[in-house]
Amino acid sequence: MNIAVGSDHAGFEFKKTVIAWLAGSGYEIEDMGPYDEGSVDYPDFARKVALAVAEGKSDSGILLCGTGIGVSIAANKIKGIRAALVCNPEFATLARQHNNANIICFPARFTDKATIEQSLHNWFATDFEGGRHELRVNKIEPCC
Ligand code: RB5
Repeated sequence: MNIAVGSDHAGFEFKKTVIAWLAGSGYEIEDMGPYDEGSVDYPDFARKVALAVAEGKSDSGILLCGTGIGVSIAANKIKGIRAALVCNPEFATLARQHNNANIICFPARFTDKATIEQSLHNWFATDFEGGRHELRVNKIEPCC
């Protein structure tokens, strides 16, 4: 599995945590930046990761910014993307089971290493449930 990863400056430190966990778990990683802690604009990196997932170059994506809100708003502008803001491991499980989310967004200023690692474990261990959730997910379409 190829996983695209990106952040802004606020998410830069925990991006290293994400990459270390992915590498240790045997995933192929596409680090889309940033590559230093200088100030950057989160939409630029959210877009890169979201396009990689939407175009099928990556199987799923991981984004981080201060709150996780900016990257999730930006990623969800790309057709086919279901980016979920994940604040705890249960969110990660439910975002897969109910929403078939394809990008996980972490709030780097409001989380910790253990929460990120357990959330990643749950995310990759959990499948979409389909059924009634599939009907609902299929109703998520751009309307204007
Ligand atoms: C950067 O200061 C901060 O605004 C950004 O990381 C993010 O929280 C935006 O949603």
